[in-house]
Amino acid sequence: MDVADLPELPRRLAAAEPGWNETTDVLVVGSGVAGLTAALHLREQGLHVTVVTKVNIDDGSTRWAQGGIAAVLDPLDTPAAHANDTEIAGVGLCDPEAVRVLVEEGPARVRELIRLGASFDRNSDGSLMLTREGGHRADRIIHAGGDATGAEVQRALHEAVHRDPWIRLVEHALVLDLLRAPDGRACGITLHVLGEGSEDGVGAILARAVVLATGGMGQIYASTTNPSVSTGDGVALALRAGAVVTDVEFVQFHPTSFVTSTVNSVQRPLISEALRGEGAHLVDETGKRFMVGQHELAELAPRDVVAKGIHRVLRATGADHVYLDARHLGREFLEQRFPTIVASTRAAGVDPATELIPVAPAAHYASGGVRTDLQGRTSIPGLYACGEVACTGVHGANRLASNSLLEGLVFAKRIADDIARELPPQAEPAPDTAGPGWVVPPDVRAELQRSMTRGAGVLRSADSLDATAKELARLAEQRDTPRNAAWEATNLLTVATVLVAAARTRRETRGCHWREDFPVAEDEWRGHLLHTLDRARLHQSFEEMA
Ligand code: SIN
Repeated sequence: MDVADLPELPRRLAAAEPGWNETTDVLVVGSGVAGLTAALHLREQGLHVTVVTKVNIDDGSTRWAQGGIAAVLDPLDTPAAHANDTEIAGVGLCDPEAVRVLVEEGPARVRELIRLGASFDRNSDGSLMLTREGGHRADRIIHAGGDATGAEVQRALHEAVHRDPWIRLVEHALVLDLLRAPDGRACGITLHVLGEGSEDGVGAILARAVVLATGGMGQIYASTTNPSVSTGDGVALALRAGAVVTDVEFVQFHPTSFVTSTVNSVQRPLISEALRGEGAHLVDETGKRFMVGQHELAELAPRDVVAKGIHRVLRATGADHVYLDARHLGREFLEQRFPTIVASTRAAGVDPATELIPVAPAAHYASGGVRTDLQGRTSIPGLYACGEVACTGVHGANRLASNSLLEGLVFAKRIADDIARELPPQAEPAPDTAGPGWVVPPDVRAELQRSMTRGAGVLRSADSLDATAKELARLAEQRDTPRNAAWEATNLLTVATVLVAAARTRRETRGCHWREDFPVAEDEWRGHLLHTLDRARLHQSFEEMA
């Protein structure tokens, strides 16, 4: 498949030779729900674990999650119903076996999280409070602190990790490249640590298995609900190492991020779908509920449908936002059920009890990523991936609301079990044959974000994608000296290039991939685009669904 005009990509990042090294049994890269859950389960197997994380332990996406965790906990609900909703949202691209694993094992993982100390909101009779979000046909979302679910999950996992002296945590550690043994197996990583003492600068951590749990890539866009650390580091590292990545074109845009001029950053505050689940309406500037009549679930249609509905209004009116009307829910209810949202909107001068909330879609979640099997194994032996960085097959072309924390919990446990079953002895890394490597300058980041938003965002076409491909090629010609911001910019360039390659090739509209010039889903495209880095060039292939 033709990816000829896309830029060459580095097969390794330019960096100094490692000045220090250490060893561990299993190295986990990332400290959100997937990484910390994997670390805790690996400890249950008696293994020594090192967790490295780019900034501080709580700085990833998990703590920003508002809505909750979807799981079948109501006796009237069934795993089959949860699977059905997941597959409808995924528009024909979910792996049914992965979905089955998710919905059947999910409730047990949620109960373990509760035993670990996570506290979810409960009804007066002590039962878990369950709510609904877009695409769900049953109330199956548990939440904590009203709309602070991610913060509570992160707190509970963080505390559990701190209680265990055999989990070593290395913060301010940006992962660079994978180390591989002579037989090709992953045997560690190189990284850069902004530390004090012996582990400062570029080093290497050798391990008998490596788990990538680095989160998403929302920072390829100019507005996203993701924090600034979400720069696609894991997907880019896996590609450089030769792993298969897939479904990267399916970036989910959350319909309702808060549009405010008081927040001057790429990350926009999320206005949880749960607010619509509790009855808030989307209205245009005339007060009309424009989602009614577009889908049987109106504002609670799957996210891609709602994001498209909003985008159409924005195009027709030229405005940069529509509104969410939650006034009828009442001050007391809003303050109690959505304290995070009320605080963030009020801080910007909007009181949701009396005023409409300006909202617009923003990049939210990468449904694709490093391809794994049901045990979380990637195509490189000894390298695992879990959480948003991974593509397990559960999300297909569009993730169902609140399935992401669940996926992290379920597949982290599977990975730990698999690693414990067959962990080889520590291997020495083979000499690197990928050449000296290179990086682009940090200011590529802002240009890339603007270009991706213009040409490869909610709505795409051959022309818009070609224009973005050209801009990426120009950005890729620049070179700079190695440092954190340059490594991150290079990772962003790498994942953006793969996304544009996939989005150009997929000539149909499916899930969160919306092509203006190919507006319907086509049977011939029912399958996955796979990417690898072949020398410095992207290699692309298509795999039909069975
Ligand atoms: C939300 O609260 O709307 C986000 C939940 C999710 O992304 O699953």
